[in-house]
Amino acid sequence: MSINSRRAEKRSRFFCFRKQLVSKAMDKGDQKLNLKREVGMVGAVSFIAGTMIGSGIFINPQYLLSTIGSPGAFFVMWACCGLIAMLGGLCYAELGTVISESGAEYIYMLRTVGQVVAFMYVFSFIAAMRPASATGIALTCGEYIVAPFYPGCTPPQVLVKCVTAAVILMLAIINCLSVRMATAIQVVTMVVKVLAMAVIILGGVVMLFQGNTQNFENSFEGTNLDANSIGLALYQGLWSYDGWNTLNYLTEELKHPEVNLPRAVVIAISLVTGLYLLVNVSYLTVMTPKELMSSNAVAVTWGNKVLGSWGWIMSVAAALSAFGSLNGTFFSGGRVCFVAAREGHMPDILSMAHVRRLTPSPALIFTTIISLVVLIPGDFQSIVNYFSFTAWFFYAITMCGLLYLKIKKPELPRPYKVPIILPILVLVAAVFLVLAPIIDNPQIEYLYVSLFIFSGILVYIPFIHYKLCPGLLTKLTLFLQLFLEVAPADKNL
Ligand code: ARG
Repeated sequence: MSINSRRAEKRSRFFCFRKQLVSKAMDKGDQKLNLKREVGMVGAVSFIAGTMIGSGIFINPQYLLSTIGSPGAFFVMWACCGLIAMLGGLCYAELGTVISESGAEYIYMLRTVGQVVAFMYVFSFIAAMRPASATGIALTCGEYIVAPFYPGCTPPQVLVKCVTAAVILMLAIINCLSVRMATAIQVVTMVVKVLAMAVIILGGVVMLFQGNTQNFENSFEGTNLDANSIGLALYQGLWSYDGWNTLNYLTEELKHPEVNLPRAVVIAISLVTGLYLLVNVSYLTVMTPKELMSSNAVAVTWGNKVLGSWGWIMSVAAALSAFGSLNGTFFSGGRVCFVAAREGHMPDILSMAHVRRLTPSPALIFTTIISLVVLIPGDFQSIVNYFSFTAWFFYAITMCGLLYLKIKKPELPRPYKVPIILPILVLVAAVFLVLAPIIDNPQIEYLYVSLFIFSGILVYIPFIHYKLCPGLLTKLTLFLQLFLEVAPADKNL
């Protein structure tokens, strides 16, 4: 027998075995293969708060302060961002209980504004937004892991990027292996970061009682009131709050979503807003505004000043915090691929789940690959600005969708309802956020980002609308399906 035919025989035996595995799992008691409702109330709060608290609060405050110019306005900005996140979260809670499918903005746009916009969203989300945010958070994690080994100097970028890549891969594997394990990581890292923030807050309170209040005098002096500064400061702040919509990506996996979704939103976002404000009070008690602005990792500077030789603890806490946030980002990001593929907007393979582990592994693997590609040229600050611009563009459209549902479909059953003024306020904020930096200080990059968003249409028309090359992916799908042991999953409504 030639080597080639022996190989072919081996391969066919291998696939035969896999095929049996896949069909056995699917036949089991004629059960449908779907993601289970495993996320309870604690998991839900942890998914939101744990995704929100990530890199931002540990490295963004200095940029926000330099952009807005004064400590007083700095606090107003943090509070405004918390308010915007809360209003957005409440509106999403209504959306998530009226439209019970997973997939957040994607599914809401699909059910209200229509196919083309939903496709444009999922295209930008999968090709740019999600990998960019994952990479941004992972970069912070990598930087904080490496930082303690390079005291007083900047660590080599190649090393930071390699560690970042390792972090991304590790979390991707965990998310492919088990929903329960990913949930556990979310809960544990969430506890760690809340504790770390509690330490920062306590340290600040002690210093405040010792009479360190000089940084809060004349606190509005030097405020920059132009639209561009306010817009950019909000971008910086809102990056730290981003993730307030995390639970809407996985409503199908949430136990009793009609009760748990609104409740988890309120608990998580108020918790995070309170913590952020107090942490910032502590930063400004311990450091002068100048010191804060010139620090490049504010939590570490704080740690060195207050904890002395134990300052490295803050590095570990910041790294773990980013790790947890990245976990939440992965968990929810995979879900969007998965829902979009189920609706025929993405290759079928991305909608499948592992036959035994019930995790949407193909979608997760896809997100991981693009995140690793983005990592190569990625830099944190530009990622934050362009991410926020794109994200708020789509949040604005989602709010229009909610307004449409409220006005045109008042008869739909609504377990949870918000007054119409809330989506209007969020819409106004979103429009301001998208337009302010463009109008006040136009930069060519925003044009590129917009062109990219709209380029989704060029893919939509031939491949989705006219369904060109339908058989193109069939063979690849079959091969991958057997290779990854995945099968089509059903809706879980
Ligand atoms: N708030 C997070 C942070 O401060 C970033 C969240 C990015 N967005 C997301 N949906 N994961 O690092």
